[in-house]
Amino acid sequence: MSEQKYAFSTCLMGEWMVVASAQTLLETLHLETVVDRHAIRLRYTENSVKVDWIKSDLPFNIHAQIAYGFVWICVGEPKKPLFQLEEYAIPQARLVPCGAYGVRTSPLRAIENFLDMAHFPYIHTGILGAEPETMVKPYQVEYRKAIDEIWATECFFTQPLAAPSSSQPQETEYIYRVATPLNAILYKVNTQAEGIIPADVICLFIQPINETQIRAHLLMILDDQISSMTDMVLFQQKIFTQDKPILENHLPLKLPLHQRIEIPTKADALATAYRKWLLEKQWSYGVFSPEKEHVV
Ligand SMILES: [Fe+2]
Repeated sequence: MSEQKYAFSTCLMGEWMVVASAQTLLETLHLETVVDRHAIRLRYTENSVKVDWIKSDLPFNIHAQIAYGFVWICVGEPKKPLFQLEEYAIPQARLVPCGAYGVRTSPLRAIENFLDMAHFPYIHTGILGAEPETMVKPYQVEYRKAIDEIWATECFFTQPLAAPSSSQPQETEYIYRVATPLNAILYKVNTQAEGIIPADVICLFIQPINETQIRAHLLMILDDQISSMTDMVLFQQKIFTQDKPILENHLPLKLPLHQRIEIPTKADALATAYRKWLLEKQWSYGVFSPEKEHVV
């Protein structure tokens, strides 16, 4: 079936989605990429970004903006403005774009994995966690209705190497923020930091290529004034390359939203809130539906 026969997912309409590094577009002035199976062309002209469908004849306008070092697009009218990320504008904060990774998984699986502390000791052994400190302590989860975001606070985890500049194990405080179904932000209180920003910020922005293929764009905003850019990028790349095979081997690749398929535990309070939020939105993109599909 040719590409133009596909409709654009109604779930993704009105959502702000990262589609490219702003630096790459500003250098090349022109690039092509894919969002929900549709090829798009980005052009930087007259100080703004223009976006066109390449082969598709979809009747939807595409809004575009540059923010936080990325090009963001929104097909149709935005459901809400792009979320605020104040730390990005703070002078002296180190802005560390960590590139984009192609991963064969659902956008929702990638976000849920990012929200999950329980896997640290097993997948990021010796860095973000280590046995026997495997227990996820209780934390608070709240839905912030005014901004339609989910926040988890008071998350504490003992980490052998919390950041590139860490010299010893430390109990690390996390705040998780799910800004949209495709965009999550982690604030990591760095006790060895100089106080330029309240916490290091790690962002995962998902570009949905299709329901089981993504480009994961990573950005860090760090207090670290010492580590080289290369070391900071390599640190995050190492973490992400540990997650990638886990995500790609997860069956089903799409995320089940109903508890009868995967039983959550108390440590999964944030993942449970994320799934409930998606259900309330009647979100279906990247969702496993047992009636329609079989696990193979
Ligand atoms: Fe991970």
